[in-house]
Amino acid sequence: MGTMTGKTAIVTGAGHGQGANHCIRLADAGANVVAVDVCTDVEFFYPLASKEELEDTAARCRSTGSDALPIVADVRDPTQVASVLDQTIERFGRVDILCNNAGLARIDAIDEVSDDVLSAILDVNVRGAFNMTRAVTPAMKEQNYGKIINIASAAAVKPLPYLSHYSAAKGAIAAATKSWARELGPWGINVNCIAPGTVLTAMIVGLAAQLDKAPEQAFDEFNSGSVFTGARSHITVDDITDALMFLVSESSRMITGHVLAVDGGKTNT
Ligand SMILES: NC(=O)c1ccc[n+]([C@@H]2O[C@H](COP(=O)([O-])OP(=O)(O)OC[C@H]3O[C@@H](n4cnc5c(N)ncnc54)[C@H](O)[C@@H]3O)[C@@H](O)[C@H]2O)c1
Repeated sequence: MGTMTGKTAIVTGAGHGQGANHCIRLADAGANVVAVDVCTDVEFFYPLASKEELEDTAARCRSTGSDALPIVADVRDPTQVASVLDQTIERFGRVDILCNNAGLARIDAIDEVSDDVLSAILDVNVRGAFNMTRAVTPAMKEQNYGKIINIASAAAVKPLPYLSHYSAAKGAIAAATKSWARELGPWGINVNCIAPGTVLTAMIVGLAAQLDKAPEQAFDEFNSGSVFTGARSHITVDDITDALMFLVSESSRMITGHVLAVDGGKTNT
């Protein structure tokens, strides 16, 4: 029996990258996992996860012995989000953990950013987390239990030039974390946020392509500012999942409204 046995977790942006790793580690700890991803590309952005990748996440979860339900859904659409909750309750009867991980980023000068790009970044990173949190909250309130983890970014703590839309979106979700923590605490719901530094996933490969750089070079440049050096400065998906596993565990039951930087000290000013 794992520490998460009997719990049900919904993770958005679960097709690949950090979200897929969160799903597999939650399943390995015994949780039933609902893996959600849009599985469709968005115009002007790097390739997002495919349906095959989402199925693979679910298969890897099941290989741990836990159950997993992959759902193709766009977190921007409240109707699709409502269906995610319905399918979760129908299959598992409850929802204990929500990880708002789906995200989208792009590099744009403020005087050049298009309406479409601005809408996509704000809608996926902010509205998506609002839609999902609004959907799961009634079930969590009824249970008097819940763990909501929002994935922001170091860019929320130390906003970056040419990433103002992304920095603002992640800052919004860090602020919403604190508001939801105060509001939902009386129902035993913890709400926390992780602010990752740079992790080499499809997002960074996509941003590197925009800059005409090799992914490893962009990764090293984005990582500058870490207090660690060399290989030690490289943040892995497991570093982020380690923080998630702590925040969904009973060890963090008195921690709520916290924005936890997992960034090698980059934003520690
Ligand atoms: N990679 C980094 O350096 C980094 C740094 C800080 C924060 N983050 C954040 O971490 C989270 C995970 O990112 P990642 O690094 O794994 O990148 P990623 O691009 O590999 O994963 C993001 C996932 O979100 C999915 N997604 C996008 N739009 C969606 C939508 N509308 N509905 C449902 N799913 C959608 C994508 O298909 C993809 O699977 C994101 O919120 C990201 O902003 C990443």
